[in-house]
Order: sequence, then C-alpha cells, then structure tokens
Amino acid sequence: MRQPVVMGNWKLNGSKEMVKDLIEGLKNELNGVEGVDVAIAPPVMYLAQAEALLADSNIILGAQNVDVNAQGAFTGDISPAMLKEFGASHIIIGHSERREYHNESDEFVAKKFGFLKESGLTPVFCIGESEAQNEAGETEAVCARQVDAVINALGVEALEGAIIAYEPIWAIGTGKAATAEDAQRIHATIRAHIAEKNADVAAKVVIQYGGSVKPENAASYFAQPDIDGALVGGASLDAASFAAIAKAAAEAKKA
Ligand code: 13P
Repeated sequence: MRQPVVMGNWKLNGSKEMVKDLIEGLKNELNGVEGVDVAIAPPVMYLAQAEALLADSNIILGAQNVDVNAQGAFTGDISPAMLKEFGASHIIIGHSERREYHNESDEFVAKKFGFLKESGLTPVFCIGESEAQNEAGETEAVCARQVDAVINALGVEALEGAIIAYEPIWAIGTGKAATAEDAQRIHATIRAHIAEKNADVAAKVVIQYGGSVKPENAASYFAQPDIDGALVGGASLDAASFAAIAKAAAEAKKA
C-alpha cells in the first residue's frame, strides 16, 4: 500500500507575508487529516521562515532545486546539506521548467538524483513529454528515457524511497489537464518499465501526476490505481484549494 504524497510546487511565487498566510492557512485546513503526506516547496529564500512556521505541523518541507556540488566556487548554487539544515527533505529535480529554461539534461538530473540520495534526501523526480512528443505518440518512450537516465547511472534500487512526478509539459499551467484515464495509462507504463528491472521497487515507488491539478479534478486522478498523489503548481498557492486536493488523496486511498 503506497501512501499518497501531495506536494505544492510554489515555483517563483512568495513573499514573507504570503509564506506566513499560506502556511498558517494550510495548518488550519489540514489539521487532523491523515493518510496522505503533504509537502510544500517554497522558494529557498523562505525555507527558514517556513521551517519555523511548520515546527508544530506534519507538513513536510521541500525545495524546488539543488546543485550537484557540495561546496565551493559555484555562484548561486545550493547544496543538499544546506537544504537539509533548514529541514527540507523532499527536493524537486528535473522539472520541465528547469530542463527547458536552464538546459538541464537527463544526465545532469540523474546526477542531482544521486546526490540527494547520498545526502539522505528524497528526490521528487519530474518526467514528462512535450505537446509535440505527445502528438507524435512518443510519451511512453520519453518517460522511459528520462527514468532510464537515473536507472543507468545509479541502478534501479535508487528509485526506492524516491518519488516520480509525471508531468506532461502541455498540461502544466495551461488548465488543459490530462484525463485521469490517460494519466493512469502512462503511470502504469512507467511502473511496468521499472518492474522490468525490479518488481519490488516498482510496486513501492510513488508516482504523482502533475499538470493543472485542481480541487475539481483531483479525485478523478486519485481514483486511479497507479496515481499516488499530485505535484501541484497554481492550486498550491491557495490554502483551501491545496488542502482540498490533499484531502481528496487521503479519501481516495483510504484502505
Ligand atoms: P500547475 O498545477 O500550475 O499546472 O503546475 C504543475 C507543476 O508544474 C507542478 O510542478
């Protein structure tokens, strides 16, 4: 039985005031909710503030990126140890926005994956196809290639305890979400691909869906057997919306 994980990726949004209001709102909304792991990834600027606000809460703190170096002359970069020091455990890597705007390759993302694991942190490893790849029928192949970059570099066992987020790029921030049935089909394919290497790891790995998840469509995804939660962008910036998504996951996956 996989515990669902609902994570909010705040992207480049935030201010001290917003962090305070949003986290306090989430703590209220999620009080007493069980059966789902809820995580938030504010911009790193706000990790210290978020850590303090979350001290009396089960909400997991995460971050949106990490570097591949531990220390030294790497201007602007952040190490796993720094994230860890501020209580961040679930770290998003391979997001399509970083792959696209920062030219991050499959191999570079795999390196980040390994560094996070080595540091005892949880990679939230994003994969997913572009609209053109989707229309060309390449979705499964693209996802397999992205997952294989990690498997080839680190071995399939590296996926143990990690989270995969399937985010079709054309569904991110567009309101054009994948149907629950289509997402389920791709999730099952990703899991089967991993199972070819190790069935136990495949059965355990959490695979989130991401891309225009809202309170209105969340339950339809969580009703699918291979969709184990969501990586939420826009709707995670509103406490009531994000909490409604987390509650839908808890409800759908109740034993
Ligand atoms: P939206 O929920 O805004 O579509 O963003 C999804 C996403 O990119 C989460 O990482």
